[in-house]
Amino acid sequence: MYVNVAVLKETRPHERRVALVPSVVPKLVKLGARLHMEAGAGLAIKLIDSAYKDVVFVADRHKLVGDADVVLAVQPPALGVIDGMKEGAILVSFIYADKEPALVQRLLDRKVTCFAMERVPRITRAQAMDALSSQSALAGYYAVQLGATHLARILPKVTTAAGTIGPAKVLVVGLGVAGLEAIATAHRLGAMVEGYDVRPETQEQAQSLGAKFVETGVDARGKGGYARELTVEEKSKVAAVLTKHIQTADLVITTAAIPGHKSPKLISKAQVAGMKAGAVIVDLSAEGGGNCEDTRPGETFEVGQVTIVAPLNVPSLLGEDASELYAKNQYNLLALMMKDNVITIDWSDEILAGTVLTHAGKAGHTAAAPLQKVA
Ligand SMILES: NC(=O)c1ccc[n+]([C@@H]2O[C@H](COP(=O)([O-])OP(=O)(O)OC[C@H]3O[C@@H](n4cnc5c(N)ncnc54)[C@H](O)[C@@H]3O)[C@@H](O)[C@H]2O)c1
Repeated sequence: MYVNVAVLKETRPHERRVALVPSVVPKLVKLGARLHMEAGAGLAIKLIDSAYKDVVFVADRHKLVGDADVVLAVQPPALGVIDGMKEGAILVSFIYADKEPALVQRLLDRKVTCFAMERVPRITRAQAMDALSSQSALAGYYAVQLGATHLARILPKVTTAAGTIGPAKVLVVGLGVAGLEAIATAHRLGAMVEGYDVRPETQEQAQSLGAKFVETGVDARGKGGYARELTVEEKSKVAAVLTKHIQTADLVITTAAIPGHKSPKLISKAQVAGMKAGAVIVDLSAEGGGNCEDTRPGETFEVGQVTIVAPLNVPSLLGEDASELYAKNQYNLLALMMKDNVITIDWSDEILAGTVLTHAGKAGHTAAAPLQKVA
């Protein structure tokens, strides 16, 4: 007995990640997986098929999927993939159900058991499976790199015979996983770093990574460790404090997000107009519309003398490392349900119950509603 696992080649534009990397193959084989991948699945990160040992490559996607007990992917797959899956087979990938109603309906119709990676509970025991965190950490690091390449100055203080320059001032707004990694990276590179978030517990976290915390007196702790939306009064209170910090910064990195909402606008057009000439904003929240009023998602452009960089799907830009961490996240999730070469799903496990999106034709969850019990 073994579990037939199929790994898709990603087809969405600009997606370079792959859900399985060679180092994770032996771990899955040990769990009882027989591994199949779509031909060329790793090519976007220069992993040719022969780089994978103990994996059978299949060119025909329909055949690959039709024989699978488990299908692994990064992005939500095309409807045709779900149509080709066996009833009762398992799909593990990012889904973002609120943006993919047709896909969710198809998962229900085809009675596919789907575990949506973005639904992994943010609890200590699930940290090794938390792909949102692994991918955000890489994005936070990369935001500093991107910002630095668009600045016409260096980050650290440097002393030469001709004189001393720097350090640059970096402000990070939104101190979740990405923001804290951005602080750590900018600090390591020698910048003077400030951090701001509406959750007061981030003050200590920012300080422990070498940043000064910008205190606004607004506490917007929401449910489940996330932030809530600010009231109009709170917004103007924050803006009054933040303006000075935004306008003295060389590099501003924004990562603020509220689950289920558009990105909060934290930097106004007027604040941008008052920024230092040559300053750079890297808006990591472009996917949700951006934290800056001037942001154009997916574009890099100038507003006056300020450069705004608003990349989409940042983890894909670091596809090699992002795939490595994502594949490990998926392996750790599969390890909860693959034992002795068979799949056994223990629905009393809060990680599996929290992550399931569809099972046996029932919605484990829709993005807005609380989790229903699955059979
Ligand atoms: N225990 C765990 O295993 C675990 C793992 C990962 C994350 N977490 C927690 O989950 C939570 C969310 O982390 P995330 O990285 O997904 O965050 P996120 O991507 O949802 O949001 C990024 C940050 O934006 C902040 N934000 C929202 N509105 C803002 C505003 N108006 N101004 C300034 N900042 C604003 C949020 O507070 C958050 O820190 C955090 O509390 C984090 O510590 C826990």
